Amino acid sequence: MGSLHDGASVSHSVSFILGALVPTLLLFFLASDRVGEKLASISSFANGSAHQQMSPNLPGNGSAGEKGERLFPGLAELLPKVATDDRTVIITSVNEAFARPGSLLDLFRESFYAGDGIAHLLNHTLIVAVDAAAYHHCRRVHPHCYLLEATARTSMNLSSANDFMSDAYLELVWAKLEVQQRVLQLGYNFLFTDVDIVWFRDPFRHIGVHADMAVSSDIYSGDADALDGNWPNTGFYYVKATGRTVEMLRRWRAARWRFPRDHEQTIFNQIKHELAADLRLQLQFLDTAIFGGFCRVFRNDMARACTMHANCCFGLGNKLTDLRDVLGQWKNYTAMTPLGRRNAKAAGRSFGWRVPAKCGTPDKRAPSGS
Ligand SMILES: *[C@@H]1O[C@H](CO)[C@@H](O)[C@H](O)[C@H]1NC(C)=O
Ligand SMILES: *[C@@H]1O[C@H](CO)[C@@H](O)[C@H](O)[C@H]1NC(C)=O
Ligand SMILES: *[C@@H]1O[C@H](CO)[C@@H](O)[C@H](O)[C@H]1NC(C)=O
Ligand SMILES: *[C@@H]1O[C@H](CO)[C@@H](O)[C@H](O)[C@H]1NC(C)=O
Ligand SMILES: *[C@@H]1O[C@H](CO)[C@@H](O)[C@H](O)[C@H]1NC(C)=O
Repeated sequence: MGSLHDGASVSHSVSFILGALVPTLLLFFLASDRVGEKLASISSFANGSAHQQMSPNLPGNGSAGEKGERLFPGLAELLPKVATDDRTVIITSVNEAFARPGSLLDLFRESFYAGDGIAHLLNHTLIVAVDAAAYHHCRRVHPHCYLLEATARTSMNLSSANDFMSDAYLELVWAKLEVQQRVLQLGYNFLFTDVDIVWFRDPFRHIGVHADMAVSSDIYSGDADALDGNWPNTGFYYVKATGRTVEMLRRWRAARWRFPRDHEQTIFNQIKHELAADLRLQLQFLDTAIFGGFCRVFRNDMARACTMHANCCFGLGNKLTDLRDVLGQWKNYTAMTPLGRRNAKAAGRSFGWRVPAKCGTPDKRAPSGS
């Protein structure tokens, strides 16, 4: 994958100069720190059901708040119940195949209980279900579920385990950005996590205070601020709610139509330079040694690990097998006493992860759809 680096190189000073040319009016908007309060008060005067009765084809002349409330009924009321004191929510999304008993959602939740003092974070996690069956599964196990009527928008069936490049899957990954933009508009920071990620430790302590966005990496160059050399993986990222980041989400979504049909992640990588330059966005890339994935599992050390992502992995069954094994290794690791670990380390034992049995390399790729 190293050969995929793009050649474009925009230095920090150039981005700064470009940023300075942004029109004053825009800067004024971007400088305003919290956008949420005003929009929240606009959108909460009527509840979702009242707005649903409005014609869905009404021209979008209303405020962003009214439009958002119409597209996402009930979300504005739900977020205060989920958010932390500093208005941050963790978000993941599931379809029926991911949410059914014994599937990824259960494993994801289990990892918080097995993790190092992070079980309370589940109370701040919003699970966005993209179909009614997923919502039903979610409600049985989790306190905060939200049904995104994605199927109603796209008239596609998103219930099954989807092919990586199928139309339905693409709709899903782009629909998730719509929700996120709305969350920012309501004034909430969010940490989005794919549900095929297991959590071990609190990720927030690795997110810099200046970061508008902190994103996990497929390839990490060693320099958290460098736009070149780092390859974002948008299965896991934090975004702070500011005027600049609302605009970032808007541009990211709009960029979908400027490029050949692709995932939101690929397109984010294409536009990361212009986002950083135009919006003066501070991007932080997260180290794969801490926010790991099956693509580069060899870099990861259990002593530092925060998360493990079943990326470079095709097929729900393969993901489940290898993530379960990772969680088992983690449980064995945490079952050791600190002294036991020190002694083992002194004796030359390292606490890396085993190479995944089913995921991680192209030769283990299963036929699509399995
Ligand atoms: C929201 O709408 C429902 C159904 O129309 C109604 O029963 C409920 O009282 C409303 N809630 C608020 C807070 O207005
Ligand atoms: C929406 O705005 C356009 C242009 O500003 C105007 O012509 C149109 O009548 C408006 N529609 C509604 C429903 O207010
Ligand atoms: C999660 O929230 C519930 C309800 O407020 C509370 O009873 C529970 O103790 C919380 N769990 C953790 C781990 O903080
Ligand atoms: C969607 O797909 C699932 C799984 O393939 C199937 O069980 C369900 O009946 C489908 N729903 C619709 C509305 O076609
Ligand atoms: C955990 O440790 C037990 C006992 O040594 C071992 O049998 C088991 O295979 C280990 N589990 C994993 C997932 O490594």
